[in-house]
Amino acid sequence: MLDKIKALREEINAAIASDMEAVEQLRIKYLSKKGLVSALMADFRSVPADQKREVGQKINELKTFATEKINSLRDAFLLKEDDSCDELDLTRTASPEQLGTRHPLSVVRNEILRIFAGMGFTIAEGPEIEDDWHVFESLNFPPDHPARDMQDTFFISRDPSDVLLRTHTSSVQTRVMERTQPPIRIVCPGRVYRNEAISARAHCFFHQVEGLYIDRNVSFVDLKQVLLGFATRMFGPDTKIRLRPSYFPFTEPSAEMDISCDICGGKGCALCKGTGWVEILGCGMVDPNVLEACGIDPDVYTGYAFGMGVERIANLKYKVKDLRLFSENDIRFLREFESAH
Ligand code: DAH
Repeated sequence: MLDKIKALREEINAAIASDMEAVEQLRIKYLSKKGLVSALMADFRSVPADQKREVGQKINELKTFATEKINSLRDAFLLKEDDSCDELDLTRTASPEQLGTRHPLSVVRNEILRIFAGMGFTIAEGPEIEDDWHVFESLNFPPDHPARDMQDTFFISRDPSDVLLRTHTSSVQTRVMERTQPPIRIVCPGRVYRNEAISARAHCFFHQVEGLYIDRNVSFVDLKQVLLGFATRMFGPDTKIRLRPSYFPFTEPSAEMDISCDICGGKGCALCKGTGWVEILGCGMVDPNVLEACGIDPDVYTGYAFGMGVERIANLKYKVKDLRLFSENDIRFLREFESAH
């Protein structure tokens, strides 16, 4: 009996198959109910009691062996049928990790920077923990300006000199102008902080991109042209812009820029509150006081500046209604931007 098992094992071991059909034939020959391995079971009854244990074990082993052999023959054909396995790539990870996605605010910030880089702007950055000089005083904020108030600004210490979290990226203008003579053409991305109650429309931190261009003979016309170039690249070639007079301490004259509402195409809807326009940034000609404070001669140089909120642009581009979604990092929200880059 043991010899019979051994012979059968060798026979199975040597078995080959040229296609799937042949594999199936082998399975029927050895493993089906009427197959050769099952036939051994019939003989098992006549095995003397003292050998039953050993023989039983050997038959079981043979069954396992035959099953594995036939499975491996079958797998070989399955692999062959799958084209993608034709070239086996051994460098591929066995269990691929799911890749993360870029945060929507990074996507929008990068897009803003890319557009301005295409117009000759370079990137400058500055610290988030700032002092009163860089955030307010150098930018022509009068000492009693409400923006310095505790309600807006997070102060870290008020003694001996104010240390605070910057409330806008305009502070980077000062830092760059203090150490560089014109021409200066920069965009400054970064996070800013304001002491606001958190709601769908306000947060205690958000992101801005500041722009600054200082050279001889820079005029408001240059500013308008650059901003039009930005708006049409960011929101589409048919986008229109409009500049409304406004006030900022560090620019004179100052303006706020609206773009034509891309939801209703200017007809008036909920997003633009029926006006056909949505505000996207503040801008103006750099106030001579600011140039002077930063060591640049206002009789020789002029310049413009602008500042925009990245969340604001992202809201308009992706129609996100609640600002809090940007900082909650709910993976379902972030995955919606998988195709953005
Ligand atoms: N710093 C302003 C703010 O946070 C935005 C701003 C407006 C920046 C006009 C500028 C500018 O450079 O010219 O609201």
